[in-house]
Amino acid sequence: MKIFLLLLWISVSLEAYELNRTYAGDTFFDGFYFFTDKDPNHGTVQYVDEVIARALNLLSVENGKVKIAVDSTNVFPTDGRPSIRIHSHDRYNEGLVIYDIDHMPVGPGTWPAFWFSGDSWPANGEIDVLEGVYLKTENNQALHTRANCTMPLDASIFKGHWTKSNQGKITNDCFVNAPGQGGSGCSITSEDGLFGVPFNAAGGGVFAFEWIRESSIKIWIFKRANIPADITQGNPNPDNWGKPEAYYTIGQQCTANHFNDLELIINCNLCGDWAGGAFPGGWDACNQKVRNDPSAFKDTYWLINSIKYYL
Ligand SMILES: *[C@@H]1O[C@H](CO)[C@@H](O)[C@H](O)[C@H]1NC(C)=O
Ligand SMILES: *[C@@H]1O[C@H](CO)[C@@H](O)[C@H](O)[C@H]1NC(C)=O
Repeated sequence: MKIFLLLLWISVSLEAYELNRTYAGDTFFDGFYFFTDKDPNHGTVQYVDEVIARALNLLSVENGKVKIAVDSTNVFPTDGRPSIRIHSHDRYNEGLVIYDIDHMPVGPGTWPAFWFSGDSWPANGEIDVLEGVYLKTENNQALHTRANCTMPLDASIFKGHWTKSNQGKITNDCFVNAPGQGGSGCSITSEDGLFGVPFNAAGGGVFAFEWIRESSIKIWIFKRANIPADITQGNPNPDNWGKPEAYYTIGQQCTANHFNDLELIINCNLCGDWAGGAFPGGWDACNQKVRNDPSAFKDTYWLINSIKYYL
């Protein structure tokens, strides 16, 4: 009996996730570098470095909460609006990431994201955990890969639903050039209310991302009042969380090697390929708004309690 209990204890402790790294508070930005290239998705933004970001008052830490904002005081008649895109120094290949946020950027033409991407895109893959555009109230999870990464169509294993691409097709083929996909990736739309204004109105909450390298990529979203106690207590156990919003199967028609050495990325784009086209009145109207109406961007900020990586 003692031996049995000992074995049970060992197996339980081997399976439990252990905290490996925390991005939070005053040391939050130590874990990241600032991306300052031209936006690859044709957004009306200038991704600024840390010095400019601080001069423009776009970064702050108050009561332990990290605020990352888009400029909301100046006009930019010919340039993009200053915004932040940061990439982790660490590279990821598996694990559990708990994003606890009070607020995500909202406002005209916004396109915020928490995501992962590797070198030589799409050779090493992209995983989009939190993503959507202005006026959306559903989160869009997606994978973007090289050829030969397709998901089983069975949608009964997750709470969201397969997204129809702008070409009217469900795209369970994650290959970036899959016919009919139109750049959306193999995208899953969450239940309503888990993105944008309603998510913020609920006091934010948690995006939980679990990547088991050889078998699955899953995303759960909990509004603040529904965060499981094991997460709050620092002993996250996805077995307790029920069906995820999104569930991607790895190891069947998509290999673990489609996703390698990914950087964790946080950004807020404005207009551009997705948010420009989706803007009421179109891309030009989006650009005009972004360039000329700073006060419309008062709520265009992240407020992050912590990002915890468990292994
Ligand atoms: C994080 O995980 C890596 C890889 O297993 C390990 O080498 C490192 O010691 C861990 N760090 C902490 C703080 O647990
Ligand atoms: C996809 O699979 C085909 C057939 O096995 C193979 O010829 C091709 O090299 C693969 N392409 C990639 C990018 O993995």
